[in-house]
Order: sequence, then C-alpha cells, then structure tokens
Amino acid sequence: MPRSILVTSALPYANGPTHLGHVTETVQTDIWVRFQRLRGHECHYVCADDTHGTPIMLQARAEGITPEALIERVGVERRRSFAGFRIGFDNYYTTHSPENRHYTELVFKALDAAGHIDRRPVVQAYDEQAGMFLPDRYVKGHCPRCDAPDQYGDSCEACGATYSPSDLKNPVSVLSGTAPIQRESEHLFFKLGHFEDMLRAWTRSGTLHPAVTNKLDEWFEAGLRDWDVSRDAPYFGFEIPGAPGKFFYVWLDAPIGYMASFDDLCRRTGLDFDAYWRPGGNTELHHFIGKDILYFHSLFWPATLEGAGFRKPDGVHVHGFLTINGQKMSKSRGTFVTAERYLELLPAEYFRYFIAGKLGPGVDDFDLNLEEFTTRINAEIVGKLVNLASRCAPFITRGHDGLLASALPDPALHADFARAGESIASLFEAREYAAAIREIMALADRANQYVDAHKPWVLARDPARASEVQAVATQALNLFRMLMAWLKPVMPDMATRAEAFLGAPIRHWDDAGTPLLGTRIQPYDPLASRLDLALVNKLVETPPSTPQPPPPPPEGTGEVDIETFQKVDLRVARIASAELVEGADKLLKLSLDLGEGGSRQVFAGIRAAYDPATLVDRLVVVVANLKPRKMRFGVSEGMVLAAGPGGEDIFLLAPDAGARPGMRVK
Ligand code: MSP
Ligand code: ZN
Repeated sequence: MPRSILVTSALPYANGPTHLGHVTETVQTDIWVRFQRLRGHECHYVCADDTHGTPIMLQARAEGITPEALIERVGVERRRSFAGFRIGFDNYYTTHSPENRHYTELVFKALDAAGHIDRRPVVQAYDEQAGMFLPDRYVKGHCPRCDAPDQYGDSCEACGATYSPSDLKNPVSVLSGTAPIQRESEHLFFKLGHFEDMLRAWTRSGTLHPAVTNKLDEWFEAGLRDWDVSRDAPYFGFEIPGAPGKFFYVWLDAPIGYMASFDDLCRRTGLDFDAYWRPGGNTELHHFIGKDILYFHSLFWPATLEGAGFRKPDGVHVHGFLTINGQKMSKSRGTFVTAERYLELLPAEYFRYFIAGKLGPGVDDFDLNLEEFTTRINAEIVGKLVNLASRCAPFITRGHDGLLASALPDPALHADFARAGESIASLFEAREYAAAIREIMALADRANQYVDAHKPWVLARDPARASEVQAVATQALNLFRMLMAWLKPVMPDMATRAEAFLGAPIRHWDDAGTPLLGTRIQPYDPLASRLDLALVNKLVETPPSTPQPPPPPPEGTGEVDIETFQKVDLRVARIASAELVEGADKLLKLSLDLGEGGSRQVFAGIRAAYDPATLVDRLVVVVANLKPRKMRFGVSEGMVLAAGPGGEDIFLLAPDAGARPGMRVK
C-alpha cells in the first residue's frame, strides 16, 4: 500500500549562512524522502527559513538594513546552497509569510479559546538606553554561584549553574553596556502541564527513539512548566491579535512554519492540506531535527498541535551534532565550514555519501575527519563501486558494440543481490544509513570478487571466448546497477549518470532486480574521481571571512609611519582578462599577470567606468599582498589602485609603458 508522507527538516535561522551541520540534517532527511519515493510512496518534503526573533532584528540593525531585506538575502543564499547539495525540497518557504501568520493566529486563538493560555505580569531585565527588554543571552555578569565573570543571563559556563538574569551579579546589557533595570510587563503563557498525560502516552508510542525517551522522562520528572509565548516590542515577528505591542515568541510560529510551507505547496499543487494536518487522515508526518531542539519538538509542538485541534507527528527523528576533525564547528578554529565553501572545493555527493555512512537512528555526535573522508571516498566510491563499471564497460562497448549478453552466467548471484535489497531497504526505512552503506559496500566487494575470479581481461585474449567475456561483464554491470539503485537516494546525480550509461532508468527500488539483457549500453564516462587530501584540507584552512566592518580609524593624527606603509606590496600588473560578473552591476572580474609575482584574481568596482574589452593588456598598479577576501562571487586577491569618487568617475592609475608586470612600485 503506497503511503502518503509529509517530511520536514528543522528551519534554519535566517541570520547566518548555511553550514555543514545544516547540510547534514537536510541530507539525512533528503535521503529518507528520496528512498520513500523510490519505494513507490507519495512523499512531500518542505522546509523554510526561520526568520523571526531578536537576533535577526539586531543583526539587520547592525547591517543598517531592514529585517525583511536581511531574510530575503539569506533566503536566496540558502536555497542556492541546499540546491548545490541536491536537497530536493518540494517547497522552501519563509516563516515571515501570510500563511504562517494565518496559522499562528489560528493556533493561538484555538489554544486561548480552550483555556490553554494564561496572562500574567513578568519582571524582566530592561535596557533603558536600547529601549527594549533583554533576552537572557543579552545580559552578562558574574555567576551568582561561583562568581565567574562575563557569564550569560541563563547559565554559567564555568560551573554549569542555571539561573535567571536577575540573579547575576553586576549585570550589564550586551547591547549598550549599561546596567539593566527590572521592569514589569504582561506576558502570555501556554499551559504545557494541561497536556502531560497526552505527552507521556505520545512519547512512548514509537514516535521517538528510546535514547530520546529517556531524556523526556527527566523533563517529566522536573515537571512541565508554563511556556512564555509572548515578547514585547521591539520584536521582529507577528503581533498578537488583541495585544498591541506584544508579539508571538519565535518558537511559537517557527514549527507552525512547517504547516505554512506545506500550505503554500498545496496552493500550487492542489494537495489537500487537511489530509495531512487534521486528525484521522490516512497520512504520516515526520520531522527531522537536531538534539538541541528536542524540547520544542517533543513537548511544546505536539501539545500545541493537540490543543489547537491538529494532528500530532508520527515521528520526530533526532540526530546528534557534526564535528570536524574531532572539533565542534567553530569560526575561531577554522572548523566552521559553510555549504558554499564546501561546494567551491568538492563534489556535493561525496559529502552525502560520507555522512550517510555515519548516520544511525540515535543521537550520538559524528565526525567528519578529513583524512577518513578522503580515504573512504577513494576506497569505496572510486575503488569499489565505480571501478566495477569502469573495468567492465570496455568489454561490452569495444568487443560487443555496446550490447549486453542475452543471459546471465550466474543468475543465482544476481538473485542473491536482489534479495539483499529488501534488507537494505529496511535499514533505510529505519534510518540505519550507516548499516545500509556497510551492506552495500560488502556486496560491492562480492561483485568485484566475481570479476576477479573470472578475469575477463585474460579471457579477452582468446577470440574464441568472446561471448564468455560478454557474459561476465554483463553479470558484473547488472550487479553494479543494483548497487547504484540502492545508492540512488544518497547520490542521485551519480545514479542518473549511471542510468544514462546503462541505457535504462531506475524508477523504482526493485527495477534493477530485473537484469538488463541484450540491451545497449553507452561508452563509459568516469562517474567519480579520486580525492586529494591536500584539496580536502582546504576546507579547514583560513576560515572564509564574512565581510568585516571597516577598521576603526587609526588613533591620533591619522598618520601612518613608514614601516607600516612599506608593508604594502605595490606592484605593476598587466590585465590579462576582464569580465562582467553576473549579478554584480558594479564589478568587473580581472585576472592580473604580475610577472614573476604570479597571477591574481581581483574584483574591482570599475564597471561603470570601463568597458572590459578595452582593459585587456593595460598596465595597472595593484596591492599584491592584500589578504584575500571572499566575496559573493569568488575570492578577491588584491586591489587595483584608482583615483576618483567612484561610479563613472574613476580612473585607473597606470605606470608608463616601459614598466613590466611584477615590478615593485616605490
Ligand atoms: N530555527 C531553529 C529551528 C526551528 S524548527 C521549527 C534552529 N535553527 S538552527 O539554524 O540553529 O539549526 C537548524 C538545524 O540544524 C537544527 O536541527 C540543528 O540541530 C541543526 N544543526 C545545527 N548545527 C548542527 C551540527 N553541527 N550538526 C548537525 N546538526 C546541526 O534551531
Ligand atoms: Zn558559575
């Protein structure tokens, strides 16, 4: 019976770039979604950016733009990054949408009408200079227990104590540096305790992994406290109907963003929203999340849904955290790897494969060790999987005009593989990806052993045995095709290329169980190439810097001493090529030839003043030792000197014709 399944990944916050942690989660989800579809089920996958809350409001302010402009920009970058990793969302939406406002208000009104919302005053830290209430993380001070300085308002990193900001000694607001005052305002609370019985039953109904249920038991023991779902202005979010100046807390409207994104999909495709979100529909709802947001998804979220008359999830699938070379992802250590940086350097599907090989249904953290990554890709993808196709294809394409044999020499071996496909499917279904990959690779070993045992390259020396060669290669290529079918959810692009090579599509998990016989294959184009550790290690070299604010003006007179000036390496350069940059109407991309000083790629804001064609072979002066800067369009490795205010009024500085590229400018 085909199932109808709705699947989500957690909604990334819209104030930061997509990093490999986010990608891990969407890859885990996407593999499951693609697997379900390959098994013939109807499966919809939605996500969105999580756009509300104080950090996003403040970041937009710091950049001097509106929150709307910030979330728009991040949303565009995000879609590009996820597309680069082949995440096949049916819809990637935003929580700042009319649909989300609609459902958030609907949910809130239903909860309120059913008596699940309380109103009462709260005393909170308030920054008089900034004119706003301060979230716990925006107050710092000395820990009330151990006196460690510079601790956040919710917990102490030194001794682990948890407390409220009013307990801090010598508190200061991180916004203005002033001491906050305590001020009262009315807040709205969701009565989570009303749902305790339902939650206890729901969390034990198979929706959660046992490792997670234990965590929940601790929370039940501690008692389910009321949840503050309102925030005072200024706040970037949805204003609460009937409560001017009060806004829904971002974590109320964020998961409702799953509904809103799906609703937007329904509007475009005619899917039935209620069939997926009202109780009693014959559909499934699955959320994939990280362990840090378990409380929200396993307590608040099912209780909100129940209280507002919606269905509850069938599965909340919780994963651990990705570390890189054994370290937490951190900008200062260089282990914060953005999706974009990865895609500049390496094939997306290698990451998908490697992460699949690490993921199980539990909540343990997992590591991207770059040496292990390189070794596994080279040994497993290149050495075992693709090797089968690359070594067997020529026997068919050269010797037999591309035609596969009309019968398998060892049908039992093929049948063995086909049977294994069922157990591999159960592993994918249970999100035991690492185990599934192990089985697939064990079968790849068997397939290679088959080829090694029959030595088609030896048989091929004897023209009388040509049909034996064809038969062995046909057997091996059909085994390869089954492996590729099972890996299709993990490496969809490689699978598509393998399908083209074999001349037959894989539309269903079982398709490859029926061997290709007497049909034609195409000449083999490499499906994968080896990784070089030096290249892979670039992932953790100099963290790609986000554009930094300009440095403060030098203190005192603004004079620069001669030593400082001499640090600037000015050189003559020849413009080797100049091109327009798509999407950047002020920039030209220049390749500069610095003679013995090598070459540089530089983005220069001179497009309004120069036609790129006229620039080629001109001599210019360049700052050759400027720290490379990552821009949206690529890395800029220097700066070309020009005079003038900018726009059309800008004039490149040029040495006389006798100067040669690479000469130092003094
Ligand atoms: N906006 C909330 C989620 C709202 S869902 C209604 C949020 N955003 S987040 O950007 O911080 O994280 C998005 C997802 O990425 C979360 O599931 C989080 O656990 C996951 N990850 C963030 N860093 C991660 C790793 N290093 N490793 C694996 N997953 C990680 O939380
Ligand atoms: Zn402490």
